[in-house]
Amino acid sequence: MANKDKKFNDQLAALEQQAKEVLSNNDRGTYTVPNSGLYPHQWLWDSCFIAIGQANFDVKRAEVEIRSLLKGQWSNGMVPSIILRKDRNIDQPDLDRHDRIWRSWLNPNAPSNLATSGITQPPMIAEAVTRVGAKMNKHDRRQWYKQVFNGLINYHKWIYQERDPHREGLALLIHPWEVGLDNTPPWMSELNEHLLPWWIRMLHTAKLDTAIGWFRSDNLYVSKHERLTNVEALAFYDVQRRLRRKNYEFDKYIDHSLFAIEDLTFNCILIRANSLLREIADFIDQEIDKDLLESMERSKKELAKLWDEYSGEYFSRDFISHRLIKESSIASFMPLYSGVISQEKASRIVEYLENEHRYGTDYPVPSTPLDSHWFNPNRYWQGPTWINTNWLIIDGLKRYGFNDHAEVLKEVTIDLVKKTGFFEYFNPLTGEGLGVDSFSWTAALIIDLLNS
Ligand code: GLC
Repeated sequence: MANKDKKFNDQLAALEQQAKEVLSNNDRGTYTVPNSGLYPHQWLWDSCFIAIGQANFDVKRAEVEIRSLLKGQWSNGMVPSIILRKDRNIDQPDLDRHDRIWRSWLNPNAPSNLATSGITQPPMIAEAVTRVGAKMNKHDRRQWYKQVFNGLINYHKWIYQERDPHREGLALLIHPWEVGLDNTPPWMSELNEHLLPWWIRMLHTAKLDTAIGWFRSDNLYVSKHERLTNVEALAFYDVQRRLRRKNYEFDKYIDHSLFAIEDLTFNCILIRANSLLREIADFIDQEIDKDLLESMERSKKELAKLWDEYSGEYFSRDFISHRLIKESSIASFMPLYSGVISQEKASRIVEYLENEHRYGTDYPVPSTPLDSHWFNPNRYWQGPTWINTNWLIIDGLKRYGFNDHAEVLKEVTIDLVKKTGFFEYFNPLTGEGLGVDSFSWTAALIIDLLNS
């Protein structure tokens, strides 16, 4: 028995070592790329998950990761989803693909010394900052919080000022890349049912979309069956171009934006980040101004309106019509992570996590439930299991006292990566690794789970 235990512990130690190697290979000094081929820049929520992992073994490096992220912050407070790095590996086939797409310099608020995207991603920064702070003594933590406090406050203010124009409490998103769950069913059903631009619809109807796959370079790295369809990818670029044409200026693009969705995942992460921001402010005796505090309170109240009693689920909402977008997805679990729903609602969420017909796969949690017509075990956010969403769910389960569920999910998540490797995502039925290999947040969050 003791030998068996020792063997198991040795395997976990080896797994942690491999995870550190993945991070070290993707480390570019001040930031970490998600993957050296497909994602050769710095992404917002990736860097936060990476710092959460790094904090377990190198707090200084974790600080650097977050500081470099804040260097990309715009003068209006927005932290962009991508900071495009010049010092990247020059044998990338798509060296300037992202620069050509984004052209952030069109907007006067963008930093002059760095090219970035013109949109944001889920505000995981406060979580990363406090996880890193938790590994420090009180003195260092105070210093650390003071260094990042203004950046964080300005970011949260920007979210409310620009993305909550009616002051209702929920932030609206304008591109699926902003939620980071790119082709997730709620967004794709909106696209297909209401928003698909006519010229893309025509290409699709005439079955010409397969012939125009040439515009994509992601398929150089990953099988096309594991990524977006050509129609989805074309629509994503179309939406991005509409925003660029308006120089990413909210007042100009909001009327031309294809999407305006109050996304459930983003807002749950925002709500959690707000409470962490208050903890940070208390710790360094800083006041948060009244306006921001009021917005934070409104968010908590408004989240309750995303609950649909009939389905027993929370959903994202259309910004204009306030219609709930009733498509189940991994987002349904995120209210646990927000930490502000009632224990009764949390139990309802756990009930559907336990539902065999929806989530009963050998390698949970699938990003789309099995009974959804969108479910595809290989396609990106339409079925595969992702380690970052498992990590968020584990955290949420613990928050509501479902410690056994959290422990089981933690163990199966670690086993999956141990068995398959540090892939970007995984087939929830077979455990097969999908997307790119050597993916940073998979490695970082496994380190965190192994140490929690
Ligand atoms: C993909 C993911 C997104 C992630 C990015 C970089 O676009 O959908 O969430 O941040 O890759 O890893």
